[in-house]
Amino acid sequence: MGLLTGLLDQASVYLEGQNLWVVGPAAFGALIVLSVVINVLNQLLFKDPNQPPVVFHWFPFLGSTVVYGMEPYKFFNKCQEQYGDVFTFVLLGRKMTVTLGPKGNEFVFNGKHADLCAEEAYTHLTTPVFGTGVVYDCPNHMLMEQKKFMKFGLTTETFKAYVPLIKDEIVKYFETSPFFDGQSGKVPLSTAIPQLTLFTASRSLQGREVREALTTTHADLFHDLDMGFTPVNFMFPWLPLPHNAKRDKAQRAMAKLYLDIIARRKSGEESKKEIDMIWNLMNRSYKSGESLSDLHVAHCMIALLMAGQHTSMATTTWTLLHLAAKPEIQKALYDEQVKVFGKDLAPLTYEKLSELQMVNNTIKEILRIHPPLHSIMRKVKSPLHVPDTNYIIPATHFVMAAPGVSAMDEKYFKNAKEFDPFRWVGHEADEDNAEKFDFGFGLVSKGTASPYLPFGAGRHRCIGEQFANVQLGTIISTFVREFEFSLPPGQKDVPLVDYNSMVALATAPAMIHWKRRAGSNH
Ligand code: HEM
Repeated sequence: MGLLTGLLDQASVYLEGQNLWVVGPAAFGALIVLSVVINVLNQLLFKDPNQPPVVFHWFPFLGSTVVYGMEPYKFFNKCQEQYGDVFTFVLLGRKMTVTLGPKGNEFVFNGKHADLCAEEAYTHLTTPVFGTGVVYDCPNHMLMEQKKFMKFGLTTETFKAYVPLIKDEIVKYFETSPFFDGQSGKVPLSTAIPQLTLFTASRSLQGREVREALTTTHADLFHDLDMGFTPVNFMFPWLPLPHNAKRDKAQRAMAKLYLDIIARRKSGEESKKEIDMIWNLMNRSYKSGESLSDLHVAHCMIALLMAGQHTSMATTTWTLLHLAAKPEIQKALYDEQVKVFGKDLAPLTYEKLSELQMVNNTIKEILRIHPPLHSIMRKVKSPLHVPDTNYIIPATHFVMAAPGVSAMDEKYFKNAKEFDPFRWVGHEADEDNAEKFDFGFGLVSKGTASPYLPFGAGRHRCIGEQFANVQLGTIISTFVREFEFSLPPGQKDVPLVDYNSMVALATAPAMIHWKRRAGSNH
């Protein structure tokens, strides 16, 4: 809904400014009625048995935008019941063919690059935010190499260094944030967690200088840049709207921040005392011999910051909310801390984090119920047959996978709606045993036949999973060591999902009440 209202508001402001409302209201109304009639007749009379069924809609261009935008999963489930696993809907003029279920996930994630292209699905949204020449603004083979470079900076050695840095940031946040003043209180997670994940990711992966800049001169830049990811920009990123002007200014300023850091490091002013992603990306070269320029390092850093921030912040918030609703799981997590670290709770380390099965299973379970990305898209490049059907998807369409649908399907997960981290006991190594392939950035799961793919699969699979687990694991562990927490009195369940953003967030303020544990020492 946010997509639609935002779009209409912004569009009318724009059109008014341009004096384009020249058509009289009566003529305009007649035009709309005519277009609705033609659109409906077209759907009823011209059904192509060789193309996926089209979800019925009254208005051309608008299609199913509103119902999809309001509650994507409700929309997917209803369409699945009515049309099966494969169907097409209209999203602001684009024809989206959705392919559900494990086979549908496989179809989108493991499609050949020549047939299915992510760049054309995402670049208009991401390039103004990340900057040019990286991720979806370069040929796919270069993205594969950029992902390889990024992965070199996500090793056991780096994670060992990051855990204490992340923990220190969390403790500092607990000590300085007004939300955690005293022995008990309440905290709006929608405000606190984005700050906490931004500070922890910037202090570790992004490096000390970036963390310092985010508390001082650059504090607002992140927010302005982030506004580039508003849903209205999904279709109209180029509109001359105030938030886009701010986005472009912030993008240039953020890039300059990284470029200045790189220049200081290259000049020897900053010595390599710490491990971080900037050091890792500096002086990398593609197989062709072309080097990854400083500007492209800066743009990769922005891409990593944005890719990690939304996903980690949403996942952390949902985890704390579900734990607040289930004190017995909170207790199991605390007991695990005592078991692994001793009753005095020795400091967290990366090695020990991997022994925290309950923490890891909790993260897995949250990502099953609340995968941050509900829709994965690709542009179809040549007519494509959907296996086991008569359907050919035309090259004018986009395809969409929604692995969150199979992850919540009773067919694959008993009591699928229930938050139950224990369901993963004994399945910890499932993905390790899955079929793997190297697309150019190391072996990754092909995801074949898995109903659970919160990190995607295939050539576009996430490279940030382990970092996310380190960050989330450290935050959850520190939280349960420090506090007991619950939902506000009288609130029975976690808040509803807010789909107004690019990721599936908990509806604000997502409040929890906390009480400091006796003798907590971080
Ligand atoms: C790709 C999910 C954290 C960096 C993806 C994709 C998914 C995903 C589903 C595939 C997108 C597609 O196929 O179109 C998540 C989740 C996260 C998370 C659930 C946390 C809970 C991170 C972090 C980073 C990151 C922390 C960076 C440190 C990336 C990158 C890609 C990616 C670079 C590759 C994009 C591509 O190849 O097209 N992520 N992500 N992610 N993610 Fe993550």
